[in-house]
Amino acid sequence: MKKHIPLLSFFLFSSLAFAQSKIDSTKGLKDYYQSYFPIGVAVSPQLLKSADANLILQQFNSMTPENVMKPGPIHPAEDKYNWAPADEIVDYAQANHLKVRGHTLCWHQQTGDWFFKDASGNPVSKDVLLKRLKDHITNVVTRYKGKIYAWDVVNEAIADDSTKFLRDTQWYKTCGEDFITKAFEYAHEADPDAQLFYNDYNSERPEKVERIYRLLKKLVDAKVPIHGVGLQGHWSIFEPKESELRNAIEKFSSLGLKVQITELDVSVYKWEKNDRALKPGEVGVFTAELEQKQIEKYKMAFKVFREYKNVITGITFWNLSDKYTWLDYYPVRGRKNFPLLFDVNLKPKKVFWEVVKF
Ligand code: GLA
Repeated sequence: MKKHIPLLSFFLFSSLAFAQSKIDSTKGLKDYYQSYFPIGVAVSPQLLKSADANLILQQFNSMTPENVMKPGPIHPAEDKYNWAPADEIVDYAQANHLKVRGHTLCWHQQTGDWFFKDASGNPVSKDVLLKRLKDHITNVVTRYKGKIYAWDVVNEAIADDSTKFLRDTQWYKTCGEDFITKAFEYAHEADPDAQLFYNDYNSERPEKVERIYRLLKKLVDAKVPIHGVGLQGHWSIFEPKESELRNAIEKFSSLGLKVQITELDVSVYKWEKNDRALKPGEVGVFTAELEQKQIEKYKMAFKVFREYKNVITGITFWNLSDKYTWLDYYPVRGRKNFPLLFDVNLKPKKVFWEVVKF
């Protein structure tokens, strides 16, 4: 009997090892898309400390800080930077060999009021505001130089009103269009190797494509150091159409710019920012019908992404799984959404298998 113990344990050990190696060799999104583009995910420092981080390491090879690098959180007062949370994400990425996209250097939201006001609370001059922008961008970009390969330099500068061009923010009111040009110049000076992006949403809607194109063309013609455009990709089962997505990619890349999908999720509801009410039927149930529609949208999108792999240099999902998504809070607070490839238990949804089947 004794004689058999080594044999038995060998058998047990090797079958365990086999099971283990089977798990290890499970391909993640990053592996399926290895010869296409990096696949990223928006993260918080808390997420990286939780057990859910295993899924990140298994599936993704790029990450974007969801909030902690935005001007408000990282630079809450003129003489105060809050580096620790952003450092945690960058250190984690370095230790685990993931790329990092920086997000975002200049935006009209999540930005401290102090940028725009003097000590008595009056609006500052253009010179002062640009100086503050320069200090902000220089300090943030320099700190992560060589560790962040791409930056969303300017976020959402185009107006929501389709009859207007640029959004009427304090940046625009004080600096005119110069804040955009300058932001790119400051970022490029701080890290000449970083890829610099303009980033916006609804960027496949035909009228918005035209206005984003107009802005990008101006920048490219003026030889501003811009390398790419981020299509946020906050989509829904209703949009974009395949023709709209192709048109946006073709139009932007015709300027010699790279394209990234920077904040991908596919809501199961209509995307209307100003509509904050729950509709009849919108009770937060992921029905088979919604699931099928979502599968079709994601399948279409990834087919197009693969086709344009020469100009698409990254796809990033906005959050990890349906367990937590910003769309549970926005635009309708408390309406459960199911916009990602992993379910509330972090298991791959049917749509996951469709996205990796090609
Ligand atoms: C925009 C911003 C992101 C994020 C989302 C909502 O798309 O670019 O940083 O705030 O809104 O989560």
